[in-house]
Amino acid sequence: MFLSRGERRIILTTNTLTTNVGSFKMDKGTSATVAYQLLDGSPSLNFASFVHTWMPEEGLKLVVENISKVAHALQMCCIADQDEYPATMRVHGRAVSMLADLWKVPKGNKAIGTATGGSSEAIMLGGLALKKAWQERRKAAGKDHYHPNIVMGANAQVALEKFARYFDVECRLVPVTKEGGYVMQPKDAIKYVDENTIGIFVILGSTYTGGFEDVQGMSDLLDEYEARTGISIPIHVDAASGGFIAPFAYPGYKWGFDISRVHSINTSGHKFGLTFVGWVLWKDESLLHKDLIFELHYLGSTEYSYTLNFSRPSAPILAQMFNFLHLGFEGYRRIAQADLTNARMLSRALEKSTYYTCVSNIHIPLADDSNGTGAGREVVGKTPRVVDEDQAEYYQRGLPVVAFRFSDKFKREYPHIQQAWIQNLLRAKQWIVPNYNLPPNEEKTEILRIVVRESMNADLIERVTLDILNITEQLKGAQLTDPLPSPLHSSTDPIFEKIWYWHLGFDNVDRMRDE
Ligand SMILES: Cc1ncc(COP(=O)(O)O)c(C=O)c1O
Repeated sequence: MFLSRGERRIILTTNTLTTNVGSFKMDKGTSATVAYQLLDGSPSLNFASFVHTWMPEEGLKLVVENISKVAHALQMCCIADQDEYPATMRVHGRAVSMLADLWKVPKGNKAIGTATGGSSEAIMLGGLALKKAWQERRKAAGKDHYHPNIVMGANAQVALEKFARYFDVECRLVPVTKEGGYVMQPKDAIKYVDENTIGIFVILGSTYTGGFEDVQGMSDLLDEYEARTGISIPIHVDAASGGFIAPFAYPGYKWGFDISRVHSINTSGHKFGLTFVGWVLWKDESLLHKDLIFELHYLGSTEYSYTLNFSRPSAPILAQMFNFLHLGFEGYRRIAQADLTNARMLSRALEKSTYYTCVSNIHIPLADDSNGTGAGREVVGKTPRVVDEDQAEYYQRGLPVVAFRFSDKFKREYPHIQQAWIQNLLRAKQWIVPNYNLPPNEEKTEILRIVVRESMNADLIERVTLDILNITEQLKGAQLTDPLPSPLHSSTDPIFEKIWYWHLGFDNVDRMRDE
């Protein structure tokens, strides 16, 4: 049964998988329902993943219908077969135009791009275009073109490092620090560039903390560098998650093609694009090096291919367009705002408990009014205070991700409790909340991370918060000084649960707003 957006929590009933099925050998078989549940993995209880797992019934119908066509006649529905299936190519072209517009391609540019398997393939293509362009410039100048390097933060997702290793480019990792919010800082990155730098990968939405790197700040420093040295270095933005959050939640924020050094951008439609495909776009067709484009004379027409795969199913592209038509800008904005509101609620509840400190900062109001008109916030004394709770623009920018750790106070008082136990104990309650080390340089710090996605509504967030706090209480043992009853001891009594929520200021948003 499929439910409309917002009702999804109803299907979050506990799966009871009592049937035994073989893990390493084929067994006698099981029912389709149990097989489905085994493989489904209760995606909504998985707070670890950025990957979207749900579409409305009509969207899935479109996918299923097109998948079956691929099975019967691969040629019919394969995106490489542009001549036989021109309608799909038109949809693909329109999706690229819509993304180019969303990411603010300046007038006069002819943006170009393609669907990919995900951000990883998109990053390989973006990186290759940078490498080819650098090699061509160096060859033309009669200079060494065998020692390219690329610069990125140590917080880079593995796909970025993979590009460097697979395509023989030296990977220069810029250390990240607590003071810099665990993301690459332009003033540090600039020390790593030289004449062999093919480009900088700037990440819009760190996988660790959700924090945005400063694309504009990086571009400004590269302008200064060029003025000093004559060396021009472009930027590729890895907007795997941020490409579908920043334009909607922070429409006034500058990070995309309106920054002149941004040549290309990738995104994962299967993350906050709410479907199952990736994308890479170049601001202008001149930036996609001709060596990457294959001209094909195929089935009676001329086609151009610049992806790592030749054939590609069209169903995910149709699903992406389904969302563009169905949700539109307003729909995506509503979902991004709701995800961020839920993430802020979770962050505050965790911090109010005093057991946890958030490493992510999307719940902290902006110190200035650089994003907004001032209508949604006011400053009392020196403290900015957000009046309109649902406006993400008035808070620090980032993905709807909550990265948190034991507070210093908690660690002092309970040094024997290991944070990794929280992950394991939550797993026993079916929640997947990973505990892992921050990037090199800051790897001593462990964080727990929750990605707040569309399927995780306020109800679900409340439940996981309660479980986290209950487990923490349990680990503390009987040392609770607070006389308030905890649902740990009376979890079936709704009154105690209510008192506990209230104690944390969790269910009373009005009260939290006043604080
Ligand atoms: C910042 C970032 N870049 C790249 C990727 C790789 O994306 P994909 O899984 O779509 O290949 C991820 C995945 O989590 C990511 O978070």
